[in-house]
Amino acid sequence: MSETAPRGPVPFGPVSYDDSGALCLSGTPLAPLAARFGSPLYVYSGAHISSQIQRLQNAFSALNPLICYAVKANMNTHVIRHVASHGVGADVVSAGELRRALAGGVAPEKIVFAGVAKQPAELEAGLAAGILQFNVESWAELEALNAVAARMGKVAPVALRVNPDIDAQTLAKITTGSRGNKFGLPFDDIPALVQQMQTLPHVRLEALAMHIGSQLFKMQPFNDAYRRLADLTRHLSSTGTELQRLDMGGGLGIPYAPEDGDGPDPVDLAAAAVEHLAPLGLPTIVEPGRFVVGNAGVMIADVVYTKESYDHRFLLLNAGMNDLMRPALYDAYHHILPLQHSNTAPVPQELAGPICESTDVFAKQRLLPPLAEGEQVAFLTAGAYCAVLANHYNGRALPAEVLLTGDGEGGTEAKLIRPAVSDADMIALEQAQP
Ligand code: LLP
Repeated sequence: MSETAPRGPVPFGPVSYDDSGALCLSGTPLAPLAARFGSPLYVYSGAHISSQIQRLQNAFSALNPLICYAVKANMNTHVIRHVASHGVGADVVSAGELRRALAGGVAPEKIVFAGVAKQPAELEAGLAAGILQFNVESWAELEALNAVAARMGKVAPVALRVNPDIDAQTLAKITTGSRGNKFGLPFDDIPALVQQMQTLPHVRLEALAMHIGSQLFKMQPFNDAYRRLADLTRHLSSTGTELQRLDMGGGLGIPYAPEDGDGPDPVDLAAAAVEHLAPLGLPTIVEPGRFVVGNAGVMIADVVYTKESYDHRFLLLNAGMNDLMRPALYDAYHHILPLQHSNTAPVPQELAGPICESTDVFAKQRLLPPLAEGEQVAFLTAGAYCAVLANHYNGRALPAEVLLTGDGEGGTEAKLIRPAVSDADMIALEQAQP
């Protein structure tokens, strides 16, 4: 008999087994939450979110950037409110995310509006709210923004998003700053665009922005990107264009697997920013999403059935790729732990969902104690890009979301921050149409 998961801390910040073998998030046992709120269930630790923001603020203290949380990672308005309570702003990519940021209490002057195809109504919503800047990604978008601002009698603050053509050395499907990606403007086109912008009286260039990809573990791509950003800023300055700030984007990776250790240290990211950007003396913005919320979240699921088929042992869960899409979409790894610790020797098992698709598999040949029907598991690192990607495929509900408030040292309250959105809700919406 060998231990399948050690008692005490497991390598993901807020998740650990207590003395009775119950899996806990920031000290709160998870099984009772599933009994109370249903399964599948997303649970987030407010304490972990706070400590990640603190880590960033400490790491970046020399530069003191405006941290704009990338709402796309987890858009629940209660999560946003928790993040914003630390003085953090928001990076939004749609009118919907903008409304969510405002509803979550983010100050408009701390909101950056990114996105490659913002529509006139979305630009108008940003201007009406009085946000800090629009990160613009094409000449066509500049013209559209100019037209909307003219109609509203305003001048829109603009950051040009530069595509630095740098390989982020992360999953190809989440790389954004290479030539061939749809994102940003070609580096060499920027000086001419800046001149051309002077023909548009209702947009004002205030900044440059970059974002080269997500889940980066290596610092070299950040170093290269920040160096290019600094070079371009100096070049523009030498031709008479002074910027007011620089937006470094997000992308800092986090651990998903035990072999990832603690993941990259934000201190190293800050060092790259200090080396290249601090000499310019401009205020900066950083846009982390995953780093803030990723390891704060878990998704609980039940084993509905087990089955042996040929040489596979399947654990068939009540959660599917519609609830947690990252493995199906990116072949991403999520660590999975039983909610109740077991000393039974682990065996390879294939964890799959109920969806009628062959891609609805979370893990193949995963070593876990043999789980039985009715037992439960938690998917770790499910705070970022999981609930936001969930959908109703196969007539399924969206799982409920729970936020553990408090400091994780007791006094924690489990707050239902979104009930499940059921199939009945969807049917009612359809039937309400004439
Ligand atoms: N800023 C911009 C302009 C972005 O496009 C993104 C993420 C971020 C900031 C935040 O990046 P983060 O710090 O979270 O890496 N769904 C994928 C990730 C997509 C990232 C999209 N952009 C996944 O599940 O891995």
